[in-house]
Amino acid sequence: MKNVIVTGGAGFIGSNFIRYILEKENNIKVINVDKLTYAGNLENLKDIESNSNYIFKRVDICDRDAIEKIMIEYDVDTIVNFAAESHVDRSIEDPTEFLNTNIKGTQVLLDVAKKLWTESENKYRDNVRYLQVSTDEVYGSLNIDDECFSEMTPLNPHSPYSASKASADMFVKAYFDTYGFPAMITRCSNNYGPYQFPEKFIPLIMNNCLKHKNIPVYGDGKNVRDWLYVEDHCDAIYQALKNGKIGEVYNVGGHNERENIQIVKIIIDYLNKNVDSSITEDLITYVKDRKGHDRRYGINPEKIHNELNWLPKTKFEDGIVKTIEWYLNNQDWLDNIVNGDYANYYQKMYNK
Ligand code: NAD
Ligand code: TYD
Repeated sequence: MKNVIVTGGAGFIGSNFIRYILEKENNIKVINVDKLTYAGNLENLKDIESNSNYIFKRVDICDRDAIEKIMIEYDVDTIVNFAAESHVDRSIEDPTEFLNTNIKGTQVLLDVAKKLWTESENKYRDNVRYLQVSTDEVYGSLNIDDECFSEMTPLNPHSPYSASKASADMFVKAYFDTYGFPAMITRCSNNYGPYQFPEKFIPLIMNNCLKHKNIPVYGDGKNVRDWLYVEDHCDAIYQALKNGKIGEVYNVGGHNERENIQIVKIIIDYLNKNVDSSITEDLITYVKDRKGHDRRYGINPEKIHNELNWLPKTKFEDGIVKTIEWYLNNQDWLDNIVNGDYANYYQKMYNK
């Protein structure tokens, strides 16, 4: 792993991953390939923009020529594909960009890398690797007493977002099955931590609490997500890149299932006690449910634990406090986002 393209590196998990890998590896070049959509934010990388091992390229992963040029220029041997349209609610409003970036963009990356890494038929340069960052949402939804998702669980996506991610996974699998292309997939549960765009639930709760705005809780608030601190996800990807087997899928999660309403109450309770006693549960507002809202996600991470010795290091009780504190200490970061186009988005989504 010498010259690594990280796509979507200006987003939430990508920026955390770039920071993580630059700390772990000295002899590495990281090329952040990001289109800078509404979700891409170079502020997320301010502390490393002058690092001589880091390069930024504003490029769309669907742009085949630009991707090929970067791969040749930097003699790229590793691609980690985070770039995606990532928000379920936006995919319900309009799935088009989800098809473009999540499916077509993935196929472009696979195809360019296959062309440049091929030595002879189905034979690739040594030490080249493609990792697709996928999601547990491709498995669909669990009932409360179902077993958690394993890598053998059939794909059964429900939202346009998860359908696009499942399609991308199928392309990655097809490139491995057909061409022996050196790819692997990680499928992680919901992440939380610093730099998450405030359309997502946890930073949205933070922002609304700090502005004394109602917190919109979909349906009965009892949908369950399996939360993982973002740095643990970054470590899982790093372990997969180092020691994972090509052609394999690794589920990533930390057995931390919570109902949405529990998350809201934990954050309100912390802010009420430590920041402002006028932030109370009165802010909780139950609103119309999301269309096709998956009831429960839960990951069985046994395989990555047994085969790659990966375990999450951050307990939820600690991770959520670190996260709350980060948003408290970075309110300018939050305000720069919510005072921009986000205001129109919020109006459109929540004041229908
Ligand atoms: P994000 O929305 O915060 O960031 C996405 C990034 O991709 C942005 O910087 C954006 O500018 C960039 N991008 C979008 N379209 C692009 C294009 N066509 N070309 C180049 N760059 C483009 O997303 P995130 O939450 O950081 O998620 C990153 C990846 O991890 C996604 O693939 C997502 O499906 C997956 N994932 C996310 C979670 C989660 O909880 N957030 C969980 C599991 C998997
Ligand atoms: P989200 O952060 O959008 O992640 P995902 O849908 O990919 O799991 O949402 C997490 C959970 O929170 C999900 O069950 C939907 C719910 N939710 C709300 O109740 N209200 C909101 O305003 C948002 C954005 C999410």
